[in-house]
Amino acid sequence: MNSNSQPVAKVGIVGLGAVGLPLAALFGQVGLELVLVDSSVERVEQIRRGESPLAHLPAGLIDRLGNALISTSPEALDGCDAIVICVPTPLRPDRTPDLSAVRSAAREAATFVRAGGLVVLESTTWPGTTRHVLGKIFEFREDVDLAYSPERVDPGRVDASRAGGDLLGAGVPKLVGGVTKAATERAAALYRLAFETVIEVGSSDVAEAAKLVENIHRAVNIALVGELKIAFDAMGLDVWEVLDAAATKPFGFTRFDPGPGMGGHCLPIDPFYLSWAAKRAGAETRFVELSGEINRAMPGFVAAKTQSALRSIHVDVDEARVLLVGVAYKRGVGIVEESPAFPIAAALRAEGAQVSYADPLVPSCSLGESLDVNAEALADFDAVVILVDQEGVDLDLIAACQAVVVDTRAALRKQLLGSARYFMA
Ligand SMILES: NC(=O)c1ccc[n+]([C@@H]2O[C@H](COP(=O)([O-])OP(=O)(O)OC[C@H]3O[C@@H](n4cnc5c(N)ncnc54)[C@H](O)[C@@H]3O)[C@@H](O)[C@H]2O)c1
Repeated sequence: MNSNSQPVAKVGIVGLGAVGLPLAALFGQVGLELVLVDSSVERVEQIRRGESPLAHLPAGLIDRLGNALISTSPEALDGCDAIVICVPTPLRPDRTPDLSAVRSAAREAATFVRAGGLVVLESTTWPGTTRHVLGKIFEFREDVDLAYSPERVDPGRVDASRAGGDLLGAGVPKLVGGVTKAATERAAALYRLAFETVIEVGSSDVAEAAKLVENIHRAVNIALVGELKIAFDAMGLDVWEVLDAAATKPFGFTRFDPGPGMGGHCLPIDPFYLSWAAKRAGAETRFVELSGEINRAMPGFVAAKTQSALRSIHVDVDEARVLLVGVAYKRGVGIVEESPAFPIAAALRAEGAQVSYADPLVPSCSLGESLDVNAEALADFDAVVILVDQEGVDLDLIAACQAVVVDTRAALRKQLLGSARYFMA
């Protein structure tokens, strides 16, 4: 048996966030020996204490890590059969890819993975990263197989078909593509230990591109429905009624619902990884650019609607008290990265409004501390803006309060449509 065909028993994971931790739990459940490395001392200490650092991940997640070695030190990876890299891939201020964490994690993996080992990148990135960027770093480790496998879990989505619900994603088909065919097969064999369906694709480039396509598809459709919302609003048409009607077509139509703007770790960022790579290859990605522009403009529409709702009750915006309900980027999670709540709050505060928020999954954030939604608290506000119909918020209390309600999710449409104090945005 040569060293490349030895089975994987000890797996290192670098980056213990929304992607790395659930993966660690899945590998831990099937009995693999785990070495978990994160550069954040705080995060490592939290996990060592048995706490999940991410509100949307199950409380028992950390128990599933077994006897994992958890460390801030890359040396802990020494001798791992396989190392999976799950570090952030943000954009620089000029919207170009920032692969600094990937490069640094890859250098550590190249130093410490065992002879004939396997290294898999899971961070979202442009097609060619594993082959070219990791390939260059691993030039002195030609014995190591390199592959890419995208994370496809939808944060907060529970797989109801599983006992107790599963947030870890073992049932989500896992794409795997290697720099070589042998690397694809080795990486696929590793993931088959923990995932029900593993799909081998022709190359790491295809797997990287497929992940971007999935996210661009969502980003473009969210922008499209946002544009339609604004157009129908101007034309006096109810976008929700139109979408309900269009969705009765049993084929050829995929429904996307409008909201206050796009947020989260992925959709506002990933499409620009493709734009950048396409531009380098001499191609344009106009849909990507345009959808980014439309999605970034959506919070401005909500802020303007809130101002016109306030005018309807003769409250000047600079004297208005506004409650934003749901500041996470979507229902069921406490993730606030890139949330449209922040530009909406900033636009209203810039006009002099006092802005508070309520989100049971986000106890505190840069806007302050979350309020409890109760009748007494609601009496203090002129406008309530529903950005997310967040779990734990009693919408009936909002429906019954005296404030104007600006609703970006049609959460109270059934109860309040036609009321002079109800505005869809
Ligand atoms: N969050 C999602 O739902 C999701 C889904 C699919 C893909 N992705 C992609 O997966 C990657 C990771 O995303 P995430 O959401 O898990 O990020 P995250 O911010 O939740 O976690 C990343 C972790 O990596 C650590 N880290 C940063 N640099 C490091 C380094 N050089 N060495 C070791 N640790 C380091 C951070 O301290 C953090 O704990 C990104 O490329 C992201 O686009 C995320």
